[in-house]
Amino acid sequence: MAATKTSLEKLSKTDTIHLRKRHVGQACKLFYKHDPLKIVRAERQYMYDENDVQYLDCINNVAHVGHCHPEVVRAACDQLSILNTNNRFLHDNLVICARKLTSILPEPLSVCFLVNSGSEANDLALRLARIHTKHHDVITVDHAYHGHLTSLIDISPYKFNLPGGTGKPSWVHVAPCPDTYRGKYRASDYPPGTDLGAKYADDVRLLIKKAVDSNRTISAFFAESLMSCGGQVILPPNYLRNVYRYVREAGGVCIADEVQVGFGRVGKHWWAFQLQGDDVIPDIVTVGKPMGNGHPVAAVITTRSIANSFQQTGVEYFNTYGGNPVSCAVANAVMDVLEKEHLRDHATQVGNHFFNSLCQLQAKHPLIGDVRGVGLFIGIELVRDREKKIPATEEAEHVVARMREEHILISSDGPDRNVLKLKPPMVFTEQNADLTIKVLDQVLNEIAYLDFNHESSEKRSKADTERPEELSSQIIKT
Ligand SMILES: Cc1ncc(COP(=O)(O)O)c(C=O)c1O
Repeated sequence: MAATKTSLEKLSKTDTIHLRKRHVGQACKLFYKHDPLKIVRAERQYMYDENDVQYLDCINNVAHVGHCHPEVVRAACDQLSILNTNNRFLHDNLVICARKLTSILPEPLSVCFLVNSGSEANDLALRLARIHTKHHDVITVDHAYHGHLTSLIDISPYKFNLPGGTGKPSWVHVAPCPDTYRGKYRASDYPPGTDLGAKYADDVRLLIKKAVDSNRTISAFFAESLMSCGGQVILPPNYLRNVYRYVREAGGVCIADEVQVGFGRVGKHWWAFQLQGDDVIPDIVTVGKPMGNGHPVAAVITTRSIANSFQQTGVEYFNTYGGNPVSCAVANAVMDVLEKEHLRDHATQVGNHFFNSLCQLQAKHPLIGDVRGVGLFIGIELVRDREKKIPATEEAEHVVARMREEHILISSDGPDRNVLKLKPPMVFTEQNADLTIKVLDQVLNEIAYLDFNHESSEKRSKADTERPEELSSQIIKT
């Protein structure tokens, strides 16, 4: 019998699955692989499947100002109906976008390159760093992900350390992830007030020294200002301040990857690196995802001096779609909406409410080892034992699946995939947070009665405890 389709579908769900299996690379990630969701429309913080079932979206930081925001849609449609061409012609949208972007970044970040994706932005940042410093090597942070291009897989331990990954190239130096909950230096192991940011930064200093002693040269320190794929890790105070100093002393530049976490997600600031202090300013910032609310537009913002070094090579930069009038119209509309609707203040207010409610839930459920976050960027780390901090990977997987059954979309990540990630569109409300908490509470109550097969996480935690001291932060790739 032929499968039926609804009015918003071109194909039945069965046919969509069939065609995807047949013609789309099976390496492409699919959420809820065993029973994938087919989403046919979305608005604000809600997505709808082919049967018009509504899902609360706690995953999509890309739909930053809300799915299909009418002003963003209008800006794209209006511009698309007038002109779309490449940026070798003058166009107002491009310069307005560059002026706006630089106005919300601190000096001396004053020059932009418009590109199409976070990966393109990071690849260009790497190129700028190498050209400017005339150095080659890169310091990256353990568990980081910076994009899907070959150059970026090389600096993404999240990918290159997988069993089928390509491994760490010799020009890449991996610093411990500055995770003060379950990383190399844990807050629980030190007296209150210990400067763990400085301790983690000191590891970067030693890493640089070791590299330089082996005649390597450091072009860049590449890091997210909050680690997202790495497990919603909040950088401890004083980390970037110290690291940036050590990197610059070695002749390198500092790159802040704000592709996931930028554009006000942290609420009180436009950019997550600003959480580390007004004096902490990267040399290059990369932005993407939320910038286009789903439309492919991204950017690299840097100093005039670095941009000049690039220009002086005489190799002109051209990017067919980067900075086209439609993409810039979209980016400009997103930045306007963020301001007009006071979405940064909203993120602070709703984020604080969400965070506080999660802390109350933590007091009730031993499985919640840690709640961390800022604004609408929140992580809930599940552990099977609060003392030993054994990752509750299977439980996290179960929670994600059960929440979906209750029509709430969340995901899990981190090296052990035991951190529940919350990074909803910025229009998420306190009522949405309350519903998420209520359902999570219910799911965690159920878990208490379930029996999980912990074979894989047993292996992981054994590997963790058996590692030599200096490797203890570079945990566990299953
Ligand atoms: C921190 C970070 N940087 C860069 C990228 C790459 O962005 P894109 O997928 O737009 O190429 C991603 C994507 O997930 C990311 O999370």
